[in-house]
Amino acid sequence: MPSRQEHLSVTTTSIAGRATAVAARATDLSKVYGQGETRVIALDRVSVDFGQAEFTAIMGPSGSGKSTLMHCVAGLDSFSSGSVRIGDTELGSLKDKQLTKLRRDKIGFIFQAFNLLPTLTALENITLPMDIAGRKPDKQWLDTVIEMVGLSGRLGHRPSQLSGGQQQRVAVARALASKPEIIFGDEPTGNLDSRSGAEVLGFLRNSVRELGQTVVMVTHDPVAAAYADRVVFLADGRIVDELRAPTADSVLDRMKRFDAKGRTS
Ligand SMILES: Nc1ncnc2c1ncn2[C@@H]1O[C@H](COP(=O)(O)OP(=O)(O)O)[C@@H](O)[C@H]1O
Ligand SMILES: [Mg+2]
Repeated sequence: MPSRQEHLSVTTTSIAGRATAVAARATDLSKVYGQGETRVIALDRVSVDFGQAEFTAIMGPSGSGKSTLMHCVAGLDSFSSGSVRIGDTELGSLKDKQLTKLRRDKIGFIFQAFNLLPTLTALENITLPMDIAGRKPDKQWLDTVIEMVGLSGRLGHRPSQLSGGQQQRVAVARALASKPEIIFGDEPTGNLDSRSGAEVLGFLRNSVRELGQTVVMVTHDPVAAAYADRVVFLADGRIVDELRAPTADSVLDRMKRFDAKGRTS
């Protein structure tokens, strides 16, 4: 095994000359599914940093490995080789129980299907992960988050009594409420109309700018990606490009070049 000491000792990354602490890092990360004829290299030696208090979008053609990358970095899926760390913790060194605890304590998730419990109210859904962890919510922080996502008047409603956009806002508040080190979203606005989607993306961006939250979001939508500080592009399981301060137009332009190379699936 080559020494990873040089990676372990690095705690900051330099982005355009400014030093940023690293919230999560993948190093030479590979993920292979199946074997023989059904073997698929979903991730091929991916190395990427996600800076603290940064909003990163992951883009790329369908099947390029976006969800796999997010799931591996978030500790939801095992990987074949390489390493992943969240903060200073190497995921590969953790036992299942420790990994579950790390996910619970340090990571927030927002999925496309909002994953709310139908029998709980909006407020109960927001505090559920902390209730399970036996942690007391910071009341002032909880109020700030609920205010920011505009759910103050809806806290006693059950998911079925809320619109799709409101349900996703509950999911955003749930992810933010425990002040996780990093929030991962896989197409978090994929099921929303464009107005509700824009609201949710605005909240995520505010949480980064105003609250210092770290957010990593998989999306196929250039408009959604333009809310991020940085876009990382995947193709065929590899990182092929990166854009800072993206606009919908610059992202779209970059995506078109994938099509020209026949890289869409
Ligand atoms: N559970 C799985 N078993 C086998 N192959 C998989 C599995 N999940 C994903 N893949 C394959 O890995 C590649 C990357 O998938 P994925 O990360 O879901 O891509 P994306 O999210 O960019 O659309 C694809 O070729 C996909 O078919
Ligand atoms: Mg996907």
